[in-house]
Amino acid sequence: MSDQVHIVEVGPRDGLQNEKTPVTAEARIAFIEDLIKAGLHTIEVGSFVSPKAIPQMVNSDQVLRAVNHHPGSEFHVLVPNEKGYEGAKAAGAKVIAVFASASEGFSKANINCTVAESIERFAPVMERARADGIKVRGYVSCVLGCPYDGEVKPSAVVSVTKKLWDLGCYEVSLGDTIGVGTPAKARQLLRAVAAEVPMKNLGMHFHDTYGQALANLYAGLEEGARVIDSAAGGLGGCPYAPGATGNVATEDVVYMLEGMGIATGVDMKQLVAATNGIARLLGKSPVSRVASALNAK
Ligand code: HMG
Ligand code: MG
Repeated sequence: MSDQVHIVEVGPRDGLQNEKTPVTAEARIAFIEDLIKAGLHTIEVGSFVSPKAIPQMVNSDQVLRAVNHHPGSEFHVLVPNEKGYEGAKAAGAKVIAVFASASEGFSKANINCTVAESIERFAPVMERARADGIKVRGYVSCVLGCPYDGEVKPSAVVSVTKKLWDLGCYEVSLGDTIGVGTPAKARQLLRAVAAEVPMKNLGMHFHDTYGQALANLYAGLEEGARVIDSAAGGLGGCPYAPGATGNVATEDVVYMLEGMGIATGVDMKQLVAATNGIARLLGKSPVSRVASALNAK
């Protein structure tokens, strides 16, 4: 397995959107700068969503403007509707991410509409983005289980992923939002989705609630998936996914990939420094196994 793997660092967005300790725009910018220093070049830096829903992501325009000048880096921001699109575009976004769910319960809780309505909302966003030369990534949440509806059938995931792909998303990231998946299920899901959308255009966005994320990623890599979303320090969660913990930690992903002979271009020392910096600010220790091991040395 020697192909290149593309890491999408989601720490500054998914990692911080559910934190109780407020993190200022300045501190988020410093975190992103640290991640760039570590060699991460695709970074999700914020959201243009309702500040009532996610107060942690206010001033995402400031954050994006401050980091957008970095050559060779790509910054993503979440956009749920046309209002969000306008904010993202005004702040200079070159890549946005729309986010749908494979389950109705999470769709309603997270973005206050049905899955079908969300796709309808994204259509004009996609159209405007195409006209403005802005790339659009898609997310499908709850691909391996939903905190409201329970089990989610692969066919539901295939259907929503295909819709986002047909709308023009260049990549669709499959979110195990509550981290309940296991490798066999992750493998089965990727096979099912890849029958409709090319595997190279699928991302794996696995939360680590049950400690299965790395194993699930390994199963996905064996299936041919090559895009991994992760968050420095294993930060992350969503206020509408009660009980779910963070994303798989970027350090753990990098350690595994390098161990498989897959070069990531990430400097582990710098990455752990970035993780330690944000952890200090949040007043907690990193949950990442690799960061903990290296910090204990
Ligand atoms: P709504 O209440 O149905 O929206 O919320 P609305 O259109 O009726 O507007 C209500 C108010 O929100 C209005 O303000 C709007 O102006 C404002 P008011 O008149 O009450 O003062 N508003 C906005 N403000 C800023 N930016 C906007 C925007 N849109 C409306 N874009 C809405 C619908 C989608 C806006 C809301 O539910 C929302 O913002 N949800 C965001 C949820 C979110 O960000 N969740 C976390 C990200 S998803 C995730 O973490 C999963 C993922 O990681 C993958 C995985 O793990 O599975 C991606
Ligand atoms: Mg997530």
